[in-house]
Parts: sequence; C-alpha cells; structure tokens
Amino acid sequence: MNIQEGVALAPFTTFHIGGPAKYFAEVTTVPELYQALDFARDTQARVLVLGGGSNILLPDQGFDGLVIKIAIDGIERVEEDDTTLMVSGAGEDWDAYVAQTIEQNLWGLENLSGIPGTVGGAVAQNIGAYGAALSQTLEWVEVLDTHEQITKTIQISDCKFGYRDSIFKQLPGHYIVLYAAFRLSRMPKRNLSYKDLSERFQTSDPALPEIRKAVLEIRRLKFPDISIEGTAGSFFKNLIVNEVEAKKLQEKYPGMPVFSIPESLEIKIPLGWILDHVLKLRGYKNGNVRLFEKQALVVVADKNTSSQEVQDFMYDIQKKVFDECAINIEPEVHIVVR
Ligand code: EPU
Repeated sequence: MNIQEGVALAPFTTFHIGGPAKYFAEVTTVPELYQALDFARDTQARVLVLGGGSNILLPDQGFDGLVIKIAIDGIERVEEDDTTLMVSGAGEDWDAYVAQTIEQNLWGLENLSGIPGTVGGAVAQNIGAYGAALSQTLEWVEVLDTHEQITKTIQISDCKFGYRDSIFKQLPGHYIVLYAAFRLSRMPKRNLSYKDLSERFQTSDPALPEIRKAVLEIRRLKFPDISIEGTAGSFFKNLIVNEVEAKKLQEKYPGMPVFSIPESLEIKIPLGWILDHVLKLRGYKNGNVRLFEKQALVVVADKNTSSQEVQDFMYDIQKKVFDECAINIEPEVHIVVR
C-alpha cells in the first residue's frame, strides 16, 4: 500500500471541492487498512475515512492528516431458505451493487437505485429514498474496531439506525465498515407506497427492472448531474417530529405533506417543501451556490466554488428558515473541518 502526499481531494467528492490531503492512502484489503492505520498512529496523523465522497464537504485548505479511501471490493451471494444474503465490500459502488442484485432478481434494494457513493457510505448514512431505508434489508456489518484493533461483526440490532443515522456516525472514527450483508427476497416484495412510484404503477405489478428504471428516471428529473455540477444531494436533514408537532405545522402551513419514516414512528416533514412553498427559495442563488431548481433541498455549487462559499450559503439558508419558521435546520452533509 502506497501512502501519497499532497493529493488533491476535490476529485474524490461529488461537490468537486476540497484542498490537498497531507497523506492519502487507497486501501483495497483489510491488511492494507491496518497498515494505513499503523502509519497514522506512527505519524500521529488524524484519520478521515472516505467512501464515494458523495455526502461530504471538505475544507479548501485540505485535510491535515491521513485520508483513507476505502476501496475494498467483492460481492458474494449466499442462499438461505427463501432469501439470499448478498455480502458486499464497503468500497463497491452502491448503485453498481444495487444493479447486480436486480440482475439476479433479488428484491429489497430497488427503491434505493441511483444513489451515488459506496456501500460503506450507504451503511454509515442509513440511506433512504422512495419509502425505503437501507436498514430494512441490512443484516450485519463487518467492521474494523479502531479502538480494539480487531474486526467484528455488528448485527443490525446494534447498528443504532435512525433517520440518516447509525452507530458509525454517532461514534466517528471508532468503526470502519469493511463488508455489509443484505438479506434480499427472491419473491416479489414491492414497496410502491411513495407517491412518485404509486402514481406510475397504479394498475400494474411492475417487475424489478421496471421499478429500478422508474426510480432512476425520477431521480434524474430531481437531482443535478454530478458529472457537470457540484452537489451532495439533499444538503439538509428533513425535519423529524412527533405527531402533535406535525399537526401543529400542518395547521400553520396548509397543504404541507408529511411522511412516515421506515426507521421509526416519528414523522418526516419535507424541508424541501418548506423551502419551496413557505420561503419561496427554490432556485435561490447567492454567488456561486444555489438551491436546485427542481428540488429545493439540494444545494448545487458552480465549478470552482470554495468550501467556504458553500458554508456561507448554508448559514444564509439556516438563518432564513429560522427567521421565518423558528426552526433550526441541520446539514445532512458531513462538513469536515481542517
Ligand atoms: N418538495 C417540494 N418542493 C421542493 C422539494 C420537495 O414541494 O423543492 C416536496 C415534494 O413534492 C414532496 C416532498 O417535498 O412532496 C418531499 O420531497 P422528495 O420526495 O423529493 O424528497 P426529500 O424528502 O426532499 C428525501 C431524501 C433524498 C431522497 C428523497 C426521495 C433526505 C435528506 N433526503 O428527500 O435523499 O432521494 O427523499 O425519497 O432524507 C440524500 O439524502 O442526499 C437524498 C437525495
């Protein structure tokens, strides 16, 4: 394994933002990961673990430590009764992995098609879309416990999954995801509850590839093309409230949609709707940064925008929402400090 110095980080993120890493290592195996961590310990370097860079905003000054890019690959299929366990390396591209499960006629991940990033990032983030969350199909995660310097298997019940949350986010740096196992169904298990999907398939029972195609189409309409512009998808977290609070907000803002969330009994209030319909901020631009025209929760940065500009834009939006609605909104994107 090769430790490089002064590697520009912008190309490793979908925001296309970030200065150089003091040290940089791409690891493809678990022994290589141990070597990289040994190097960090010997040089007393801080460690930043990078997956697909699709949910992170890195500083313009770069990272004054060791960036470890997880590139552990491999997909293995294990048959068990009427379900199949699909085990994937943390460095596999999430959507390529989803595409493989669909080619193999396995149900469970189709609603999560088209999400950028790696399998490891998807687990840490407990990604969700179109009425599905990763925590509904995940069974276990193999991790490297950096405190005990051993590998461990963490069952889903111990992953502390919540809305866009997990033990891996709650204890930053403690666990590094190596492999993740998803229990998928060989029998059809459609989840078409989300409006965008139920509208398309009112009368039919779509096959797996059709659902994937529909999800990819919907996403293409709502999200910017990351090969052209910088973005990390939804920049802020949606509001998660209890039933009473949701009712109050609905009275205050008639027409506001509410969603159940797969991972808890609480209710998701779409911040995109509030930014759009209450604050009229869809498409709002300040300098080089804007709220996407087709989805107000998505922050988009022009080419060569600095990290600071994106953060200033974030404060601008946070202040506007607080002034108008008295609600504190939090970034969903991981904002790294130098
Ligand atoms: N809405 C508007 N105007 C907007 C944006 C949204 O009226 O500008 C309304 C929509 O019409 C809809 C509701 O708000 O009724 C929710 O919008 P949408 O379903 O598009 O998704 P979201 O709640 O804004 C979440 C995830 C996305 C995921 C989508 C689709 C978060 C932070 N975001 O967004 O995930 O793809 O649902 O299910 O949970 C991401 O996490 O980066 C991400 C892209």
